Amino acid sequence: MGDFTTREEVEKVYRQRASHYDRASSTLDTLGFGYNRLRWEAVEELDLKPGDAVLEIGCGTGANFPLLEERIGANGRLTGVDLTHSMLNEAEKKIKTAGWTNVDLIHCSAKDYEFPARGFDGVLSTFALTLEPEYDAVIAGIASALRPGKRFAIADLKLARGWRLVFLPFLLPIMRPFAVSLKLAPRHPWESMKRHMEELKMTEHLGGYLYVASALAPQLK
Ligand SMILES: C[S@@+](CC[C@H](N)C(=O)[O-])C[C@H]1O[C@@H](n2cnc3c(N)ncnc32)[C@H](O)[C@@H]1O
Repeated sequence: MGDFTTREEVEKVYRQRASHYDRASSTLDTLGFGYNRLRWEAVEELDLKPGDAVLEIGCGTGANFPLLEERIGANGRLTGVDLTHSMLNEAEKKIKTAGWTNVDLIHCSAKDYEFPARGFDGVLSTFALTLEPEYDAVIAGIASALRPGKRFAIADLKLARGWRLVFLPFLLPIMRPFAVSLKLAPRHPWESMKRHMEELKMTEHLGGYLYVASALAPQLK
């Protein structure tokens, strides 16, 4: 069985699960994982305004799109990047149903996306960036794509510490269908945020197995 350390393995999982993803994600939310609350918190960190341009890395089926659209409005611009074509197909359905005309979907890995310099008023990634093996380079790209004074926010999974590790044997099988394995635990996007950006804020949830972090675009030199 794979450990989901490559993009190919991750893409295969999401290709197979795209049509069930929204249901599976809401089930986890109902079970108390609080995914929707964390998505909301991460979006709030961006402090978006009507007319803003926002980028979502690993947008999947567009679970965050209603929250983002509510804030940027029809004059804003939403760009969603994702590795998995079938996840983007689901996002496309949401866009059509909602009648949004300001969304661009881009099918590529986060690593291959060409970040436009100072092109965005906010960048978001929820439950996706830890799946990108070269997340550090991606976060450097995100830092360069933010306009001065604007933020990147992430919500994602991580390993808890101390006695809370007793829950790991129960949590891992629940998360495996989302391409999560223990091999991803050494990936620490928040450390890259600290390295490439400024004013890192981080809050832990679910006993330290989930977190929301945000950081500010670096000062122009
Ligand atoms: C758990 S889903 C999260 C989707 C959405 N952000 C949400 O909160 O529901 C993970 C998404 O990340 C995408 N993904 C995984 N690795 C990626 C990569 N290297 N580059 C871009 N997207 C990636 C997957 O295709 C999938 O759609």
